[in-house]
Amino acid sequence: MEKASELIDEENKYYARSARINYYNLVIDHAHGATLVDVSGNKYIDLLASASAVNVGHTHEKVVRAITDQAKKLIHYTPAYFHHVPEIELSKRLAEVAPGNSPKMVSFGNSGSDANDAIIKFARAYTGRQYIVSYMGSYHGSTYGSQTLSGTSLNMTRKMGPMLPGVVHVPYPDLYRRYPGESEHDVAMRYFDGFKRPFESFLPADETACVLIEPVQGDGGIVKAPEEYMQLVYKFCHDHGILFAVDEVNQGLGRTGKMWGIQQYKDIEPDLMSVGKSLASGLPLSAIVGKKEVMESLDAPAHLFTTSGNPVCAAAALATLDVIKDEHLVEKSAEDGEYVKQRFKEMQTRHPMIGDIRMWGLNGGIELVKDPETKEPDNDAATKVIYYAFDHGVVIITLVGNILRFQPPLVISREQLNQALQVLDDAFTAVENGSVEMPTDTGKIGW
Ligand SMILES: Cc1ncc(COP(=O)(O)O)c(C=O)c1O
Repeated sequence: MEKASELIDEENKYYARSARINYYNLVIDHAHGATLVDVSGNKYIDLLASASAVNVGHTHEKVVRAITDQAKKLIHYTPAYFHHVPEIELSKRLAEVAPGNSPKMVSFGNSGSDANDAIIKFARAYTGRQYIVSYMGSYHGSTYGSQTLSGTSLNMTRKMGPMLPGVVHVPYPDLYRRYPGESEHDVAMRYFDGFKRPFESFLPADETACVLIEPVQGDGGIVKAPEEYMQLVYKFCHDHGILFAVDEVNQGLGRTGKMWGIQQYKDIEPDLMSVGKSLASGLPLSAIVGKKEVMESLDAPAHLFTTSGNPVCAAAALATLDVIKDEHLVEKSAEDGEYVKQRFKEMQTRHPMIGDIRMWGLNGGIELVKDPETKEPDNDAATKVIYYAFDHGVVIITLVGNILRFQPPLVISREQLNQALQVLDDAFTAVENGSVEMPTDTGKIGW
């Protein structure tokens, strides 16, 4: 810990505040599977997977081998001018694995953010329309376009406006804080009415290019829209010639217990989708995958980057896709997620601070509240839980302030899951007993 503090003090002299959300002093030295080891040799169970960027686990042998073999052959030549085999194979593979049967095409980038910018570009180009609809509570990234699309933190627009014109935000359905007596159907209809309101007052549907949605909102707190709502929005898009686009950067690649988050819903084929994070097991690679005719609407250099589709990243991505398939990680995510959900449900009977448990695959938002009746968020309790967990060898952070983010690498063992769940159970007890000591000099913690 002391070594970590010294290193962080040194780093703070040079590393800009804009690029880190503060939690606790962890300086990672190495990692394997779901285990992290810090610079002092302390071991931790990783319940964050680098923000869902290493679904196949840290330093997976097959991914490491693919990276080293490729690095010895060719570290980079830009696909902006010439071709290489890893990028050729990966384009085909992603087009084939994308949801739905229509022919697809692919364009690469370096981060989930630029893939979401690409959604704006292709949707505008294909439809010849300017407006884009996205959601409050969403996180789409940190470029100007994706930051404009986001709706999760004032720091993402503060002091930087004007943002990109033509983006309209609508509310994302919240089943937890529904009105008294409301059914899931009522909630779906109330939010769909809210979705339509801009189209009835200031947003011409025939000038709207696309709706971009996270199938499960990640940074918004692991919140899933009701099936009925999603189907209504999907149909509205089709009825009005608006493209339906999904952000799979956080929720794709097995995270929700399906290959793609949108497969949580029945028979939806997105026109465009963005992928990143775990695609190359954390190496910088993103992709936009879209219906062929949409992807053919732009010509170079409308969307290219010198280093995108890098051969080492592409080789890592091919190995990652192999591991997901060969190790049945989509199925494992679904099964383990159900197990973890039941464990949290049992804990909820003993710990009233657990207000809501949202879990699809190894992908959970555990919402902590001051009182299960009022559902008032308990940021203080959530912060204490993650500090206790860290002190006891479990890395977990919060979303929104009061929601525990449960997103371990999908390869995590049952034994590690049990150990981590026991630590969280103990943490809830310790917070209830008022026995969690917080350091005094933490500064602002979390989002
Ligand atoms: C849903 C979603 N979209 C896009 C992004 C942006 O990805 P990146 O940080 O790789 O640019 C994130 C990152 O957290 C995300 O969660």
